[in-house]
Amino acid sequence: MLTDRYGRRITYLRISVTDRCNLRCVYCMPNEGIPWQSHTSILSYEEIARVVEAAAALGVNEVRLTGGEPLVRRNLPELVRLIAAVPGIEDISLTTNGLLLEEMAAELAAAGLKRINISLDTLSPEKYARLTRGGDLGKVWRGIEAAEKAGLSPIKLNTVALRGINDDELLDQARLTLTHPWHVRFIELMPVKNQLSWGPGFPAPETMFMPIQEILALLAPLDLEPMPQKEGSGPALEFKPRGAPGRVGIISPIGKKFCENCNRLRLTADGQLRPCLLSDEEVSVVPALREAGDLVSLIERVIELKPLGHELEGQVYPSGRCMMQIGG
Ligand code: 5AD
Ligand code: SF4
Repeated sequence: MLTDRYGRRITYLRISVTDRCNLRCVYCMPNEGIPWQSHTSILSYEEIARVVEAAAALGVNEVRLTGGEPLVRRNLPELVRLIAAVPGIEDISLTTNGLLLEEMAAELAAAGLKRINISLDTLSPEKYARLTRGGDLGKVWRGIEAAEKAGLSPIKLNTVALRGINDDELLDQARLTLTHPWHVRFIELMPVKNQLSWGPGFPAPETMFMPIQEILALLAPLDLEPMPQKEGSGPALEFKPRGAPGRVGIISPIGKKFCENCNRLRLTADGQLRPCLLSDEEVSVVPALREAGDLVSLIERVIELKPLGHELEGQVYPSGRCMMQIGG
């Protein structure tokens, strides 16, 4: 069983399958874009599955696929099938912008995908186009419908809370939980290589950060009842609005740091194991994969490197990669 230096059990692997994306959200990538990794530098599905097997041998039982946008990588259901067949993997989920779900939700569910998180930062089509630099919100709604029809559950909708941008809508977004069994989650903006200008019409990034207290104050009309935190249930603080079938969650890496319960390890598309989202340290699995090294002991070593937590409060910001090269 995998335990790090601080006694945390590592049971959850987040895999970024590509750094490419069919959107360019303002908080995720710089205005001028970033050079994409070449096709030859990214891991094949077979290689990813081998990393999952080694991690599962050490106690990882849950895998999430992320990007960039995972659905732009060709034939993702094939990877879902490979991972679902790994002994010990009990749960496979996906984080997506939802644009391609309309076409792919049914096939993904048939391949073994259980749950899905969809990014939805606004209910306004115009604002959506501005925040994603060109996205079509109608297509996301059709994707959400398709996910529901395919039986993916629960459906979680992720909103990065941005003062002056979507703070006027957070309450309406949370109200979706009154009529749908969805989990609407608000995420504090993380300073991952995005402190530079987001482009014309956007305020300075540091002025848009909304701490959890401010988010909760906006949601006061919903009479939120805190839910008990289950072990291994992830970083979101969960609430039930009075009488709602859905849930509201808040992910507050800064206002209410949750590093002490972190159970995660990340794998980037180009094969770097990253013990912490918010620290730059990485170790490549490529030599072990391509030169017949011992993957299991490599993963053990990376877990040893896992820091106690991020150091954002001390102004230590990760600078090696943008969010889309890590997968959130
Ligand atoms: N801060 C917080 N969340 C972010 N995401 C991407 N970039 C950031 C950031 N800087 C999250 C968003 C998006 C998901 C893919 O990652 O929720 O929906
Ligand atoms: Fe793409 Fe997601 Fe980044 Fe938006 S947040 S640009 S959808 S990877």
